[in-house]
Formats: sequence, structure tokens, C-alpha cells
Amino acid sequence: MRVLFAASEIYPLAKTGGLADVGAALPVALAERGVDVRLILPAYPEALEAAANKSVHVKFEDAVAGTTRLITARMPDSGLPVWLVDTPLLFNRRGLYQDQNGIDWADNAERFAHLSRIAAGIGLGRLALEWRPDVVHANDWHLGLLPAFLHTAQAPRPATLFTIHNLAYQGLFPTSVFPKLGLPSNFLSVDGLEFYGKVSFLKAGICFSDHMTTVSRTYAHEVTTQEFGCGLEGLLRRRKRALSGILNGIDGRIWDPSGDPHLAAPFGRQHLAGKSVCKAALQRELGLAPASDLPLVVYVSRLTEQKMADLVLKSVPDIMRRQVQMAILGEGDAGLERQFIDLAQLYPGQFAAYIGYEEPLAHRFHAGADILLHPSRFEPCGLTPLYALRYGAVPVVRGVGGLVDTVIDATDEKLRRGTANGVVFEEVSPVAMLAALDRALALYAQPILWRRLQSFGMSQDFGWNASARHYSNLYRKLVPDAEPTPATLDRRGSWHRCAEA
Ligand code: ADP
Ligand code: GLC
Repeated sequence: MRVLFAASEIYPLAKTGGLADVGAALPVALAERGVDVRLILPAYPEALEAAANKSVHVKFEDAVAGTTRLITARMPDSGLPVWLVDTPLLFNRRGLYQDQNGIDWADNAERFAHLSRIAAGIGLGRLALEWRPDVVHANDWHLGLLPAFLHTAQAPRPATLFTIHNLAYQGLFPTSVFPKLGLPSNFLSVDGLEFYGKVSFLKAGICFSDHMTTVSRTYAHEVTTQEFGCGLEGLLRRRKRALSGILNGIDGRIWDPSGDPHLAAPFGRQHLAGKSVCKAALQRELGLAPASDLPLVVYVSRLTEQKMADLVLKSVPDIMRRQVQMAILGEGDAGLERQFIDLAQLYPGQFAAYIGYEEPLAHRFHAGADILLHPSRFEPCGLTPLYALRYGAVPVVRGVGGLVDTVIDATDEKLRRGTANGVVFEEVSPVAMLAALDRALALYAQPILWRRLQSFGMSQDFGWNASARHYSNLYRKLVPDAEPTPATLDRRGSWHRCAEA
């Protein structure tokens, strides 16, 4: 089974959010199950820098995008094969989707159409003749045109799977971009890319893929409702039989408190002493008062409406009236960023805000935190609470999307049985969020109950095994006659097909 996994970001080559984490870990879990998986993403400067064993596979002049080199390389950590689409005109700039001021690049339609076109070329064996995928797995709106390009091709063509990580980001552009995309003119119709007078890349993925997944089962249902469907619910309902939910996992190689190089001390479920060391280190690092007994509440997130960053900001003064410390790690909306920084000056020693994107610091936040505040208006999966659970930080979340499938509310009965791992609230309001936080703080004040909550969360297996099994079963359903290709990861993590080994 050969799979081309196409995404706009894959950690550690490029990352702005959870999509990159999935691109890093799912393919490795698939390779471990014997899937011959190769990756493709743009050759952003940081991706070119980080990729290993680079060589130019083919160089050509693209009529629209200019000089393009398809670079073969290896992922620096897992050793999986990866193609980098090196088109300097489109990808040689800092910022994956936006410029320094948070403005979307004006040519995003051309950029990601180009990526999809190249991936389709590989899918059809036109660019890498020695290797043709059975399945092309396209992710999010950036790769929405990939199933559309493959749909236009004569058989034989690979099967297409489209994974929706976030329906709210749709890749909407004026119809004036359509002629530049390279699709037949009849694709700009209500049965194709047209969406309320615009071109929608996400809709292309939904219309033209053989199957779709979302990143949790609850979200797979939610996207068919008016509340969460972002206007696409009708179409998704019509294609319901081709839609399923597979929960994301977390990468135990990267998120493991017992062997995490970013932490002041290692710890685990049975030996929590190291977590107190991490908390003290984080308090020092952020300029918070050195108080081991005060609960430390953190918020690690893109500062967006999705993550209710506006409500969190509004609630900080209320939270500060409680016996707690709070720290924020995030970037996003410039206005919110500024106001969080102002609040840090208002509550020195009690509230800290780190504005920016700092991967190692995210690890230290989870390790040092007692509570992760993670309210979301919608949440397709939500990896952040899963990292928190692994690191013994109890999540306080809104019961929506993937969080319904992962966070188990500390009701009296669940607490007694030791089967709760967090606190869940329902309403989008500061009152509901603060009431949930208060429930968590009341539990924190009861060390035996708290240890039980923490301990159950830390013991849960949110690894990729089960999800990778679901994906490989799905690939097999899409291509029942594909030959199994035994593949393996050796101990040092470098990938090789058995036949080559
Ligand atoms: P989303 O993809 O919607 O942002 P997820 O919770 O699934 O939400 O994934 C977010 C990922 O981005 C996690 O790996 C989280 O640690 C990381 N992250 C978000 N903001 C920051 C930040 N400011 N610094 C470091 N990591 C961050
Ligand atoms: C999106 C979603 C998030 C999910 C991530 C990875 O960014 O917002 O919920 O965990 O993709 O699938």
C-alpha cells in the first residue's frame, strides 16, 4: 500500500498548529504498520534547512509559477521520505500563510494550487515514475484542489482521501483566481468549487475526494449541522456515507515527560517529584512568584476566536481574584496579544504572558502547569489538552468536537471510580468557564482526588496506534487490491523498505 501524504505543514519542517503534529506522527505510525508512505509539502526556507539528505529529483519551468525543483529528502527525525516543492517565487519567504503583519499572502490561491498540481503529478506517476501511490491523502483546504486535479485525470488514478482538520479555514478566493488554477471551466459550478460567489478550495476537497475524514468522531457529526458546518453542512450531509471521524493521536517520541529534553526534570505518573521541579522552573522562567502550593493555570493556544481567547482575556481579572497563578503562551490576534501583555504588567508575579511561538516552551508549560484552560467555540480534535493530560496538567475544556471524545468530566461518580481526567463545561460564557475553573480548583484543594484525576489522565493511551490502524483499514477499503508493501522503522528511526534493506 503506497500513500502520498500531502500537507501545507509538517513538524519539524514547518508548523503553525496541530496539523503539523499530525503530519509528523501519523505517517510514522502508518510506516510502522507496513504502509509505504511518502510526504509532500512546500520547500519553505525553514523546511529546506531542516530536511535531511536533500537532492534534486527533477527541475522544470512551470508556466505559472516559474522555476520549480522537486527535491527528495528525508525527515530529520523519522527518516521518512519527503518531497519538497521548491518554487522560490511562491515559497521562498518567511511566513507559511501570512506576512509579518498577519496579512494573508495575496497569492495563496496560486501557491497551494501549485502544491496540489505537483502532488497530483506524483499521484499520476508523471513526476516520480518509479513510485506511484495507491492513495493520495490530502489535508485541509491547502490541498483541497488535489482531489479535484486527480478527478480530472483518466484512469488509472490513485484513490483520494481528504482530511478536514478545520472546516472554519476554507481557502476562499475571488472567482477571478479560477483561470489560474488549471482546472476545467465546468469545475466552477455549484457542484464544484463555487461557494457563494467565491472559489472554495475546501469545497473542492469535499466534492472530489473518494472519502473524507475529520479528526474526531464527534466533529464528523458536528460538521453536518448548521452550528458547525460553516455553510457546508448540506453538502457534507449529502456525502455522509463518504465521511468518517478518526481521532488524532499524540507523538510519544516528542511528548513524553519522562524523557523530554526541554524539561528541568523528568517525571512520570509514578514519580511526580520532577513535575514540582518543572513548576518551580517555569515560575522562575516567567517571573511568577515561587509558590509551590498555588495552582498554576496555563493557556497554550493560537490567540483566535476558535480558542475563545477573547473570553479568556476578559476573564483574567476575575481569575486573578482567586488564589492562583496564570500563564499564557500564544500568538495570533495582534490586539489580544497587546492586551495580554498589558495584563501581565497589571498583575506582576501572578500573571505572565509569553507572546510568540516557542515549541520547547509549550513543553515546559504543560510540565509546569497544574491546570490547562482550553475553552473552544469549536474544536475538530484538540491536541493541546492531550499533551496536557500526558504531562499531568488537568484540562478544563468546553465539551465540543474532539474534546467530547477525549476529556472525561470529573463528576462525583467518575471521580470515585477514577475514570475522570478533566473538567468540562458547555456554555460559551465567562461564567460557565469560571465555574468550571472553580470546580477544578476545588479538586486541586483535595490532594487525593487531584492525584486520582492526574494519574488517570497520565495513564491513558492517546498514541497513534489505534488511529493509524483505522487509517490503514480505510486506505485498504479505498484500494482493496493494493499489494501490501512491508516497510519498517529501524531502531534509530530511519525508514527503509524491507525490499531495500
Ligand atoms: P490547533 O491546531 O487548532 O491550533 P491543537 O491543539 O490541535 O490546535 O494543536 C496546537 C499545536 O500548536 C500544539 O502542538 C501546541 O502545543 C502548539 N502551539 C500553539 N500555540 C503555540 C505557541 N504559541 N507556542 C508553541 N506551541 C504552540
Ligand atoms: C486543527 C484543529 C485542531 C486539530 C488539529 C490537528 O488545527 O483546530 O482541533 O487538533 O487541526 O488535526
